[in-house]
Amino acid sequence: MLNGKLVIGVIGVGGIGIAHLKAAAECPNVAGVIACDNNEAVLNKNTADVNCLAKTLDWKEVIARDDVDAVIIATPDQIHREMVVASLEAGKHVLCEKPFALHTDDCRAMIDCGKRVGKKIMIGQVCRLTPAFVLAKHIVDSGDIGELFFVESEYAHDYSTMPFHWRNDPVDKRHPVSGGGCHAVDLLRWIAGNPTEAYGYTNKKVLVD
Ligand SMILES: NC(=O)c1ccc[n+]([C@@H]2O[C@H](COP(=O)([O-])OP(=O)(O)OC[C@H]3O[C@@H](n4cnc5c(N)ncnc54)[C@H](O)[C@@H]3O)[C@@H](O)[C@H]2O)c1
Repeated sequence: MLNGKLVIGVIGVGGIGIAHLKAAAECPNVAGVIACDNNEAVLNKNTADVNCLAKTLDWKEVIARDDVDAVIIATPDQIHREMVVASLEAGKHVLCEKPFALHTDDCRAMIDCGKRVGKKIMIGQVCRLTPAFVLAKHIVDSGDIGELFFVESEYAHDYSTMPFHWRNDPVDKRHPVSGGGCHAVDLLRWIAGNPTEAYGYTNKKVLVD
């Protein structure tokens, strides 16, 4: 806290992280933001027009600060767990970008850690705040269209243009179902409720093998 207001650290200020940083900096209940990215060129370029309390290449410096109340993790999926667990254990609330992790054991470890230390975790399922989806949920919940009989959701994103990118890491590959499909699945669960049974089909057309 600073002057009775929140201090937010943003770890990873690439594509989505810089949007988080700018949005946090504009919140009336936020006193200041800390920017972190281990790519110095990205850090300097993306935050050039943002008024930050500090900028750093080392994410551990962010969570070591006493004044930081919450951190936003906007780094590659493969390293969410390490950063989320360390942040929670350092006493910070966490907003972690989706997908939370690539493996369920990582998700469970982060949730368990949050419960153990008593800090909040939120996942960046941004579609839940998109006006059209909020309206769809309202229409369904209100009963105006009667009993829900069938729902369908889809998500399309061509990641194949980024062959040397972390999204196509050959060791810990990020399948598009978790990368982008998590939006579609999350919306189905949010609007229609949890399924009792699930099955799926997939192909590999969107990734370079
Ligand atoms: N909610 C959404 O709709 C949405 C949209 C885009 C991305 N995302 C998610 O946000 C995350 C980031 O995606 P992106 O598109 O911004 O990727 P990006 O590659 O543009 O940005 C990631 C940043 O993290 C930095 N980084 C990597 N390792 C780091 C470390 N050890 N310490 C500090 N910084 C480090 C990189 O230098 C890079 O600038 C992913 O989990 C992605 O799935 C969510």
